[in-house]
Amino acid sequence: MAFRFVRQGLALLLAVTALQVGAQDFPNRAITMVMPYAAGGPGDTITRVFAGAMQKHLGQQIVVDNTAGASGSIGTAKVARARPDGYTLLMIHVSHATNVAMYKGLPYHPVDDFEPIGRATSGPMVIVTRNDFPARNLNEFVAYVKANGPKISLAHAGVGSASHLCGLMMMNALNVKLNEIPYKGTGPALNDLMGGQVDILCDQTSGTVPSVKAGKIKAYASAGKTRLPQLPEVPAISDAGVEGFDINISFGLYAPKGTPKPVLDQLTSALQKSVTDPEVRQRLEAMGISAVPVDQARPEALRAHLKNEIDTLGGLLIKAGVKAN
Ligand code: MLT
Repeated sequence: MAFRFVRQGLALLLAVTALQVGAQDFPNRAITMVMPYAAGGPGDTITRVFAGAMQKHLGQQIVVDNTAGASGSIGTAKVARARPDGYTLLMIHVSHATNVAMYKGLPYHPVDDFEPIGRATSGPMVIVTRNDFPARNLNEFVAYVKANGPKISLAHAGVGSASHLCGLMMMNALNVKLNEIPYKGTGPALNDLMGGQVDILCDQTSGTVPSVKAGKIKAYASAGKTRLPQLPEVPAISDAGVEGFDINISFGLYAPKGTPKPVLDQLTSALQKSVTDPEVRQRLEAMGISAVPVDQARPEALRAHLKNEIDTLGGLLIKAGVKAN
């Protein structure tokens, strides 16, 4: 019995030592940044901006891995069980907070199984439709949705995702139930919206502004109280008297629990250099997204942001009777 404990203790000591030795020359190979939604979506777009910026500062390639499904929880679980050596990271938003309330038996805890590195972005959402949606303006859109609820399809990226939360807020604000169509990300959802297979999507601007400007989809309102500088002709949903509807989506970067502090410090430093990089800020602003202030691109700020989202949004979904399984 005693020998088994000694052997386990030695194994643990060796594992910790290996991590500390590895930390000394981190990074010495490519890093994987998991984006737990499908390629081509708003999260993927933001992830690739930061992967491209951070790899310059770290001196090693950052490969984006789109492990999608179950509202981002499949990709997130992959990072939770990865070796905590800094070579597997997670870029995620609000679903890191909502999944713990949505999925029974989630194979990770959003706080206990991760090390926060820092916040990266924040950004608004916009209500878009297929190009032939039968409404000439926001007021006609509201009237049509109220009159046709269940006959209208609402695409989103899974229960608790940003697009789902925005869809919930819209259904709640208009007191209507739409026919929800879940996808592995709003990249594929946008393709179906452009093809006319679905009717409405409420998505982050990093996924929609280019398609609106290209005339491939229609934008009826920003999902908040203010218009979007990138789409000045599009009213705010509050302009139609629709209240209680204001959503902003923030992405943050995490590593698995147990990642050595010197490695986390290097990753936070590379993230901070990226959020202050003029080229990064300009690319994001063109899509209506803001890089966070540098004092938000650090562990304590992300930890506090996640706690707030768990306390507020998780409760909102449970109160709304939303369950994923
Ligand atoms: C969502 O929460 O809707 C996702 O961010 C969509 C995506 O990035 O594909």
